Amino acid sequence: MWTRRHFLAGTAALTALPLSHPASADSAPLALTARERSLSLLPGKSTPIWAYRDEWPLVLRTARGQPFHALLCNALPEHTAIHWHGIRLPNAMDGVPYMTQDPVEPGQFFDYEFSPPDAGTFFFHPHCDTVAQLGRGLAGVLIVEDEAEQGLFAADLVCAIKDWRLTDDGSFDVFSTDKGAARAGTFGNLETVNGRPVGQLEALANGWVRLRVLNLDVTRIVVLALDGAEAFLIATDGNPLQPPVPLKTWPLGPAMRADIAFRMPAQSGVKLQNVWGAKPEVLAEISVIESALPAIGPMPTLAASRVTEPDLKSAERLTFDLTAGHVSPELEAWLKENGNLGLDAVCLPQRTFWAINGKSWPGQSHKLKPPPLAELKLGRSYVFELFNGTPHQHPMHLHGHTFRVLKSSKGEIVSHLADTVLVAPKERVEIGFTADNPGEWMMHCHIVEHQETGMMGYVRVA
Ligand code: C2O
Ligand code: CU
Repeated sequence: MWTRRHFLAGTAALTALPLSHPASADSAPLALTARERSLSLLPGKSTPIWAYRDEWPLVLRTARGQPFHALLCNALPEHTAIHWHGIRLPNAMDGVPYMTQDPVEPGQFFDYEFSPPDAGTFFFHPHCDTVAQLGRGLAGVLIVEDEAEQGLFAADLVCAIKDWRLTDDGSFDVFSTDKGAARAGTFGNLETVNGRPVGQLEALANGWVRLRVLNLDVTRIVVLALDGAEAFLIATDGNPLQPPVPLKTWPLGPAMRADIAFRMPAQSGVKLQNVWGAKPEVLAEISVIESALPAIGPMPTLAASRVTEPDLKSAERLTFDLTAGHVSPELEAWLKENGNLGLDAVCLPQRTFWAINGKSWPGQSHKLKPPPLAELKLGRSYVFELFNGTPHQHPMHLHGHTFRVLKSSKGEIVSHLADTVLVAPKERVEIGFTADNPGEWMMHCHIVEHQETGMMGYVRVA
């Protein structure tokens, strides 16, 4: 017999719906059910990955400026949420548990709805216990297409780089070690592209290829180069590069993306390489499909960026020092006392190795949420100077905004738009942007163990 208690239990899942849920959502939302699925990464072995759908990597395509509607269903044993990395969306859709929404508990769901304002190559991932959730594969690629770019390329290919930490039987090894977290990160022991040791793609002879490369790894930095064709860098973190530049090498830290264009040779294949180490390694092979396409015509041009450029003359300058953190006795006592806070400890670092401007998340306050790193005025332009005072690289990411990478203390750079910028040891990088999106926006290192052991904060735009 059904009682009110049964009814409430049955509708408990509904409580995760945002209040603004439109009554008349005309199209059915895309269901993203986060749960364990199996993927064969090692020959003959199956790995219990966490994923949103059965396919890995998951690649979703949507149209710029059109409503995108996804329903996250949590069938994991712990809470989660989806952060839409690089998309300039309303703060309430940004997917940061405790900051922009309640965590989506097991059995609950959450409706994400927004209209992506920019076309480009994006991805999405959880934002709590990320080292384990993303480490297990919980991520997806989101390609936002511009109508004006329809049919420009003969091939539109995705290369999703992600490493895995596996034991011999195909199950997961520990995702984080103190040794790794306090240094360059804990590396995977199986490197993959599109879930295979070497990504396998194909393209029509003579056709223009758009190769969308995403670094979905939590730790590894790669330096891209293309072997076998003359290549151009045409977009960075999804944003068109105008004009494109010939691609020699281009670094991609965790979360960074690069779109590469080249004309597919008629006779031979092309290799995407990682030239970070002493010896180049092949990330992906693009083999040629015979075609009748003639080798004529210029490289297609991407639609212009819609990001409002910063006004550098009036911009206010702020400095952010990236340093090693320290576990202050106060913080340690605070964590002991408040570690659970009746919520749970999934989002709270139990170790603190890193800091921004001397502050390690969650900060040494007696509240769950530390004060913002900076208060920004809505509509104003800012130049952030990021200084890396550590011996390790830090790919720094700002939510909700797209910035222009202006300058580096290390020499000439290609000025480009980005949402994540790699800052090398002792380097000072300047980024500029218009603070045109109100809300509280995370800023953190995307080497996820650095993020989760202190190198994280947020700015408030109001
Ligand atoms: Cu891709 Cu705050 O994250
Ligand atoms: Cu870092």
